[in-house]
Amino acid sequence: MSRPRVFSGIQPTADSFHIGNYLGALRQWVAMQDTCDAVYCVVDLHAITLSMPENAAQLRHRTRVAAAQLIAAGLDPDRCIVFVQSHVPEHAELTWMLSCLTGFGEASRMIQFKDKSVRGGADSASVGLFTYPILMAADILLYDTDQVPVGEDQRQHLELTRTLAQRFNHRFGPTLVVPGPYILPEVARIADLQDPSIKMSKSASSPQGLVDVLEDPAAIRKKISRAVTDAGSEVRADEDAKPGVTNLLRIYSALSGESIAALEQRYAGSGYGAFKSDLGEVVVDTFAPVRERTEKLLADEAELDAILAAGAARARGIASATLSRVRDKIGFLSPS
Ligand code: TRP
Repeated sequence: MSRPRVFSGIQPTADSFHIGNYLGALRQWVAMQDTCDAVYCVVDLHAITLSMPENAAQLRHRTRVAAAQLIAAGLDPDRCIVFVQSHVPEHAELTWMLSCLTGFGEASRMIQFKDKSVRGGADSASVGLFTYPILMAADILLYDTDQVPVGEDQRQHLELTRTLAQRFNHRFGPTLVVPGPYILPEVARIADLQDPSIKMSKSASSPQGLVDVLEDPAAIRKKISRAVTDAGSEVRADEDAKPGVTNLLRIYSALSGESIAALEQRYAGSGYGAFKSDLGEVVVDTFAPVRERTEKLLADEAELDAILAAGAARARGIASATLSRVRDKIGFLSPS
């Protein structure tokens, strides 16, 4: 039996990924490249939906940094496909066709659009932000995807993707693979270090609430040591009474591979100080090699761009075949 096709994407909207991206996405992507036929995309078209980049150099830099970090974190371009979304024009093209199959009301019900457009002021939200989920559906459907590893916040977008694939197939006959429903990823969500009630995220977290993969070790140690902890001094997981400590335990456990129970036992009676300082070292030790490899990759832009060009060529081979099927079913004349 052939391996399941997996597709996922990440936005190049920052100068570094953070620990939440690392545990929630990158690390799982790396694991899946060996068990699945994996396709991973730096979604630069999505990155301009909330706001246009400050300048062209910024988007170029962030796209390369994102790709470099994926490879540095362990994605092997020989064992999976790594590419940049805008290099494969079929994404934008299929988005248009799917847009014409999506109800205006249906798109209006997307929770993330409501959240994001409120944050930036309702009037400033772009049409691109509105159609963001349709672009995401195109990403997924172009690759005959079976599974889509994403966070809980993307569940509704994945449901829309399934609906659109089913609708297309119903209208035009079997054409698109309907991806599997949302499966809860193993790793629980990582919370903001300063406010454990919110998810760690580039858009919502303060700089003190988030640890970047490419951050320098001294800054990492400082942020961990200043992470909010809870009343008392016991290192114990308790989502309600100790959300801050629980979040730190979760990060520690995910990075070190030790169980939370084992960590609770080790730090019984030792207070928060020793626990946080050890966790700081665990984070620094995990990210140091990733940072080093990322810098190396960025130092040779021509080589990095060549890797991405090769990834795009492989991706396009799959995407263009899907798009021809779609064009043909709808009735667009073939240009040849
Ligand atoms: N919307 C996703 C996020 O913000 C990123 C994304 C874009 C994606 N296209 C995708 C994820 C396709 C999975 C599949 O996390």
